[in-house]
Amino acid sequence: MQTIRYIRLEGLDSTNTYAKNNAHTFTDEFTVVQADVQYRGRGRLDRTFISDTSDGAWFSLVIKPKDYVITPEQVMLMPIMAGAAVAEGISQMYDIKSGIKWPNDVLINNKKVCGILCETQTMQNSVPLIVIGIGINMNQTVMHPDISDIATSMRIETAMEMPVECMIQNICGNILPLYDKIKQEQTACIINKWNEYSLMNNVAITYIKEQVLYNVLSKGIDMDGRLVIEQNGATKRLDSNEVRLKIQGV
Ligand code: BTN
Repeated sequence: MQTIRYIRLEGLDSTNTYAKNNAHTFTDEFTVVQADVQYRGRGRLDRTFISDTSDGAWFSLVIKPKDYVITPEQVMLMPIMAGAAVAEGISQMYDIKSGIKWPNDVLINNKKVCGILCETQTMQNSVPLIVIGIGINMNQTVMHPDISDIATSMRIETAMEMPVECMIQNICGNILPLYDKIKQEQTACIINKWNEYSLMNNVAITYIKEQVLYNVLSKGIDMDGRLVIEQNGATKRLDSNEVRLKIQGV
């Protein structure tokens, strides 16, 4: 059985930053760093992630592969794996179906309840450190005014108040078997699980790359976790590090 070391701190700038700075002291394969509040929560593409109250699950799962190698190609599936694990965890705890907007925003009623920021350290062809940062809006009764038009909380959507620790345990419990599948190179089940919650199949999207805006059709994700699109009659693939996107009408 796999064990997870658990570190809970009252306040941190960011659990991902703490995890990266302190990972050299972590001896276990899996460590969770949870903060009750984050003063400088970070999102993808250098954005801020508002997490300065103790109403949410703000945590990083730190993976230090032992006695095996995770490759940069396998790492591309980590955000996909994490998004699927969160969507599954939400179904299990709240009995409500969320949707995943590629690469890994989890939405309910078209508003974001969860964001995921995966950061890694790479050495030649191996990845000795994977930090999967997950932020879930859980028990807020009102959202911060800066994000209230685009974000929501589980409590606002379900009227249920849940212990943050249960959510974290549940999600980590979902991630570990999926991570094993990545190790065994059985990636189809990760993609299948993600597809159960996907909002990206045959929908019109707008994406921005290098400050240029494109309106295209999203077809879903490929086996590497890239977004497959149809643009001007051609099929293309997008890498999650390079684009921001919006599902049209959402
Ligand atoms: C995004 O929405 O762009 C990603 C948000 C990721 C937020 C989580 S909260 C825990 C971890 N620590 C951080 O600073 N960010 C991630």
